[in-house]
Amino acid sequence: MTLSPQWLDELRSRITLSTLIGRHVKVQRAGREYKACCPFHNEKTPSFTINDDKGFYHCFGCGAHGDAIRFMTDHQGLGFMDAVKELAAEAGMSVPAPDPRAARQAEAKASLHDVCQAAQDWFVAQLGSAAGEEARAYLRNRGLSAETIQRFGIGFAPDSRTGIKSALGHLDEDLLIEAGLLIKVDDKAPYDRFRGRIMIPIRDPRGRVIAFGGRILGQGEPKYLNSPDTPLFDKGRTLYNLHLAAPASRQSGRVVVVEGYMDVIALAQAGFGECVAPLGTALTEHQIERLWKMVDRPLLCFDGDNAGQKAAMRAASRALPLLKPGQSLGFVSLPGGQDPDDLVRASGPQAFATCLEQAAGLLDHLWSHELAAQPLTSPEDRAGLKARLNAHADTIADGDIKALYRREIGQRFSDLFFGARATSPARAAPQRGSGKTWQRRDEPVPPSEELRAFSRQPMSDLIVRGVITGLTLRPALILKHSEALSEFVTLADRWADLLDALLDAAHHNAPHALDPSSLMTILQSKGLADAVGRLKSGGNPPFSFCTSTLEPVDPLREARIAEDFAEAIEVMITRPRLEAALQDVTRRFENDMQDSLFLEQQQLRARKEAFDQRLIELTERG
Ligand code: UTP
Ligand code: MN
Repeated sequence: MTLSPQWLDELRSRITLSTLIGRHVKVQRAGREYKACCPFHNEKTPSFTINDDKGFYHCFGCGAHGDAIRFMTDHQGLGFMDAVKELAAEAGMSVPAPDPRAARQAEAKASLHDVCQAAQDWFVAQLGSAAGEEARAYLRNRGLSAETIQRFGIGFAPDSRTGIKSALGHLDEDLLIEAGLLIKVDDKAPYDRFRGRIMIPIRDPRGRVIAFGGRILGQGEPKYLNSPDTPLFDKGRTLYNLHLAAPASRQSGRVVVVEGYMDVIALAQAGFGECVAPLGTALTEHQIERLWKMVDRPLLCFDGDNAGQKAAMRAASRALPLLKPGQSLGFVSLPGGQDPDDLVRASGPQAFATCLEQAAGLLDHLWSHELAAQPLTSPEDRAGLKARLNAHADTIADGDIKALYRREIGQRFSDLFFGARATSPARAAPQRGSGKTWQRRDEPVPPSEELRAFSRQPMSDLIVRGVITGLTLRPALILKHSEALSEFVTLADRWADLLDALLDAAHHNAPHALDPSSLMTILQSKGLADAVGRLKSGGNPPFSFCTSTLEPVDPLREARIAEDFAEAIEVMITRPRLEAALQDVTRRFENDMQDSLFLEQQQLRARKEAFDQRLIELTERG
């Protein structure tokens, strides 16, 4: 089989060499390169350097020298093809099959670059032509200078279905379709994808044009249109402006992620060259890892609206499992719902610089998000806050960081609610809604939504229904487990009101006044007759604690039942977490076939199986 030089080039450009080598030796950033103790010879002071931009390593001690493939053959002892296969899997590329068609495909990829460049040249020419008059006025209106327009290669696609199609008519039409420039539906004639739009070229880390983003002139839908994913363009792996931001970040020591490429361009003109943007999708793990290659604490500066805040939380959730000592994220918020472009235009660069300096840390961000997410009136509300924060901490893979997060959360939590007596939590905490009762259904989706989805599944629902039935039959168990139960309320889904009311009843009534029948009366008086009906409608779940108490009470039997119940609570609380963690690691593993992720996945799977086994045993005992 022959692999084309273009294909190998693409492979090298997708692998970050310092990450690859960093799995075997400890690498440290040194200016624009990385240093390490040479993995090929024994040394105490590092003379081995890695250059990610150029994609090679060099040892000044022993002369070892090569690229990613060479590292895999020389250090890992793999054959050339095995090295290539392993790297390709990591880079998300498929190794061309050994046939002439594959060779042609590799060729085609090279020419996709040519097609993109030809389109780029044409869009730029259109902007300068008579047809570009309105577009030039639009850009002027947005305050973009001629220099900025040129530096970012901004162009214009006239409002025509056959503009690029005829301009690039000398090129293979299939290639134009594959590059995303033409759209072909069924057997109809292909037509221009980008019409009447300002065109912004999207480049790879080496500066080659691989895709386009188009903004409509003035009003209209969709406002932005991007190229589809193509063999050159993978949205989840691309960051707009990385090729210029990477060198700029070495100057400023900062990288800022903003929502849109117009923000990137406006910020660059205002003197912030170190900005990148995702391409209309949520920030992926891959993009976050790439940002950490540049600086230890990339700053996220998303819009202040709902969508922006959701995107920031999404990024935070994705970053948590990946945190390593010294690596984190910062969160920048801008005043008055402005986006970065608005801000620098209205208030100047200094205003933006000030916002950057005031970036909040990751934990601060989680804290204030969760604090504002739901009311904090009842003890259950507050326990819910703690549970949500701890659920975030539990997704952190690094043991030290996880422990530190949990400690810090506990500390802040007790400071807020039990610290300064003068501070009433209701005042200290920002609230939404009336704050009287739970507002689960209309709240913006909190990140624990995934967990909730799992608590809705049949297995989980069965156990929750069992636990609640157990509580109604043996009310003494409520207080005994009140801490765990109130933490669980947020996840109890359709049983939440009932559970809430049970906790409330146990806290407000003397234990001797709470037998099963008076408890029923209380629940009915609270308007929960329907919920109780739902609880009973499926018959009693098959657990020992769902059987009625016998008279006279058999203490030995009751003790065993109490044990079963404690175990059931643990399964109920832990299982959805395991399920969510498992799904998350599976997703990451699919993106990035790392051994460590595979191992993690296997461990989680084993733990989940153990829990399911316990659940089965519990039903058998019932
Ligand atoms: P915004 O609507 O916040 O755009 O979308 P903006 O950057 O402020 O744009 P201007 O200032 O009105 O020109 C932010 C980002 O979301 C993606 C784009 O990447 C955009 O930059 N987006 C938005 C789309 O992909 N499609 C859309 O229709 C809208
Ligand atoms: Mn904007």
